[in-house]
Amino acid sequence: MAVGQQVIFPPYRIKVVESIPILTVEERRQALADAGYNPFNLRADQVTIDLLSDSGTGATSAVQEAAASAGDESYAGARSWFRFHEELRDLTGYPHILPVHQGRAGERILFSSLLKPGQICISNTHFDTTHANVELAGAEPRDLPCPEAMDLDSEYPFKGNLDIEALKRALSGPDRHRIGLVLMTVTNNGLGAQPASMANLMAASELCGHHRVPFFLDGARFAENAWLVGQREPGYDDWTPRQIATRAFQLADGCIVSLKKDGLSAIGGFIGLRSEQLHARCEANLIATEGFSTYGGLAGRDLERLAVGLREVVDAAYLGARAASTARLAQKICESGVDIVQPPGIHALYLNAGRLLSHLPPHQFPGHALGCQLYLDGGIRCAELGSLYLGNIDDQYRLVSCAPFELVRLAIPRRVYTDTHLDYVATVLADIARHPRRARGYRIVSAPPVLRPFKVRLEPTAVAA
Ligand code: F0G
Repeated sequence: MAVGQQVIFPPYRIKVVESIPILTVEERRQALADAGYNPFNLRADQVTIDLLSDSGTGATSAVQEAAASAGDESYAGARSWFRFHEELRDLTGYPHILPVHQGRAGERILFSSLLKPGQICISNTHFDTTHANVELAGAEPRDLPCPEAMDLDSEYPFKGNLDIEALKRALSGPDRHRIGLVLMTVTNNGLGAQPASMANLMAASELCGHHRVPFFLDGARFAENAWLVGQREPGYDDWTPRQIATRAFQLADGCIVSLKKDGLSAIGGFIGLRSEQLHARCEANLIATEGFSTYGGLAGRDLERLAVGLREVVDAAYLGARAASTARLAQKICESGVDIVQPPGIHALYLNAGRLLSHLPPHQFPGHALGCQLYLDGGIRCAELGSLYLGNIDDQYRLVSCAPFELVRLAIPRRVYTDTHLDYVATVLADIARHPRRARGYRIVSAPPVLRPFKVRLEPTAVAA
């Protein structure tokens, strides 16, 4: 991808590869039918390009694998733990670091140690497991995204911001005594992979400090947020991504981080804390449920991979190439007439399926229909973020209230697919855009009472509406 005279390319070459399955049209049709038309039920070896998640799906480097081979698996006080711990202390500045096996374990431990039943957790947007873990702690998740986030076409550079005026109102309104936590998700995965600005983090941090409400980051994509700040926010163009990330962590009282994303590893996470008392409570919970405080459910080999990954992920050449690759895909998709949530972020693009498949009403799940069509036509797997995921459904499986948007997320694994793979995705999508009415709607055949997207089974409606 060229920017002016400059050609941006990934700062690595490929040394180990994995074959990808290429199925016939009939094999894909059969596979999707067998999966109850739910891509989560497909076998990975039935998928050609897997854009279901960027979580734990990245490629590791030779340096990470070399470090892993020297992993220390001692039950307590392993060498690998000290490496991981030092790396994170240095990156975040938090005096207390607790390892966990993945992000949601950190959510569960933090919320059950910090939130009391009946309290409110405010966020720019809670990710789904975060939302669930707030509720499991007996508290109420409340999303206050900035108003610009609701306009999918707006080019506003920081649509991941928290609505500061709404936060002010909440902190001085009738519910003020119930607010137990403010949690900023960076980048905002629930609303288009949009970044939060440093100015917004600072404003939220100051308000929370003033009202003595803990302010935390959900930093799953802390490095990608830092890159976008460096590119888009005045005053940060000469900061390194690592400096920006460190500054963001400094603004908070602590963090929960899934390291399956910007840890460049298949597994891992951590809780970072300033408070000694909160650390003691979380540590007791960690030891009882995840593992001793120097491994937290991770192998020494994982801790080693993560310690190296945390350095590699803040490399400006890596982040610049990844951002450029996503932006290139975004441009190709837009050129074919498919709208995405603007402006493009880094870890994923969000297709406006409601607009593309306007012949399908929400109760026929246009986002899901587009996801299925991408699989049928090209073996591409992705996730719906629309009424199937977020809508309310009655006991006859009829949609009773729809999601605000009908989106499909194309999540891009780190260091896995080349621009040629992504060109293929754009081509398959462009073909659907030429004949959108080919995509059929879907109806639910069976759905579990909780965690619907993962286990729902569907069937196509008889003909395109
Ligand atoms: N927070 C955010 C912002 C996330 O995106 C995720 C996971 C989590 C927390 C939970 O972390 O999976 O390690 O337990 N997101 C994945 C995704 C699953 O596909 O977006 P986890």
